[in-house]
Amino acid sequence: MSKPLDGIKIIDFTHVQAGPACTQLLAWFGADVIKVERPGSGDVTRNQLRDIPDADALYFTMLNSNKKSLTLDTKKPEGKEVLEKLIRESDVLVENFGPGALDRMGFSWERLNELNPKMIVASVKGFSDGHHYDDLKVYENVAQCAGGAASTTGFWDGPPTISAAALGDSNTGMHLAIGILTALIGRDKTGKGQKVAVSMQDSVLNLCRVKLRDQQRLDRVGYLEEYPQYPHGEFSDVVPRGGNAGGGGQPGWILKCKGWETDPNAYIYFTIQGHAWAPICKALGKPEWIDDPAYKTAEARQPHIFDIFATIEEWLADKTKFEAVDILRKFDIPCAPVLTMKELANDPSLRASGTIVEVPHSVRGSYLTVGSPIKFSDLKPEVTASPLLGEHTEEVLASLGYSQQEIFNLKEIQAV
Ligand code: COA
Repeated sequence: MSKPLDGIKIIDFTHVQAGPACTQLLAWFGADVIKVERPGSGDVTRNQLRDIPDADALYFTMLNSNKKSLTLDTKKPEGKEVLEKLIRESDVLVENFGPGALDRMGFSWERLNELNPKMIVASVKGFSDGHHYDDLKVYENVAQCAGGAASTTGFWDGPPTISAAALGDSNTGMHLAIGILTALIGRDKTGKGQKVAVSMQDSVLNLCRVKLRDQQRLDRVGYLEEYPQYPHGEFSDVVPRGGNAGGGGQPGWILKCKGWETDPNAYIYFTIQGHAWAPICKALGKPEWIDDPAYKTAEARQPHIFDIFATIEEWLADKTKFEAVDILRKFDIPCAPVLTMKELANDPSLRASGTIVEVPHSVRGSYLTVGSPIKFSDLKPEVTASPLLGEHTEEVLASLGYSQQEIFNLKEIQAV
């Protein structure tokens, strides 16, 4: 079956997570993604946190499926020559090297544009071009701090906190993928390539935009009524950490269920959405709260919202997180169990939808990965194994017109 990105050739000059997450997504949708890696070592994640000796680490396999691997020393003249050939016939080059690395290699935007004016050059950096920190190398947690996530995550009496979600890495990769697809559509109209740049700081901030909303509300009125600090606590002049409060204005919290004393994940997230108040009271067996002036409106509930949560926890005390959700869903109450990675890995619905996929791998045996979170009516992305280091070197070089002898010579030079 043909795929939407069939025929789009991508030079994947990426490593670690942000860049690879982007190109993996495009590969699932049909792009021919050729990962260019340093001979001998390749992407650093091949070796990071290995669980099986001599097999590519899961960190690598879970971010590089559906790609080809070409080993090439692009600092050597022979490697540069191959890369130039590849550039002339590719649609996109994606990179996430440290600041200036591509320029130092001799492949500035100007040079790339000269080699192939139709090619889209897509980059991830920690900070945007011209930013006063644009010389910094950046990893995930650095970006979460720089993008406003850390200062607004966690509890008010604890330090700034990092999210387990890859807001700086994979999220930036997703932003870059949107940029690349936009530039490809733009190229159809203009015939020209362009530079697409996404910074990790900007991508984190984009996901934290409701906190910038809150900063402006705080500046204007001096308090934030949906935060746990309201109405009893103090507000300073910056958005505080709100613990597990809901960010959209509807109060919510993580509440204990049966077994929480021994199971650290025996919890549900419970949201008190305004329109769901009557069903919530019915579900909890508190019909008298529906019209009680102390409970009837969101404003009336807020001063004693934690007492309400405590009452809900009493109701939850003899129910597991799954039993609780099964009852609450019948009342249309927005809630979910706090799921562990083990529960997610074994969730039959996620297996059926292709969100959790088991992938066969020639060295590791099979492993689990997260498949495409985007579902289409006319495309079912199939996840294939990540390539071994240099697995497709001969194939790619032959497709560029190199003879068997030239390929042999090139490999000899690279090995030195
Ligand atoms: N052949 C020869 N040299 C190669 C090569 C190849 N195939 N591929 C990469 N290199 C070289 C580069 O030219 C560069 O050399 P130079 O610094 O001498 O010019 C070097 O390898 C890579 O440098 P860099 O990307 O800075 O790696 P690092 O390990 O020092 O830093 C990061 C890693 C992730 C911190 C850095 O790449 C970075 O800040 N990237 C941008 C933001 C980002 O994506 N962060 C990670 C999110 S997961």
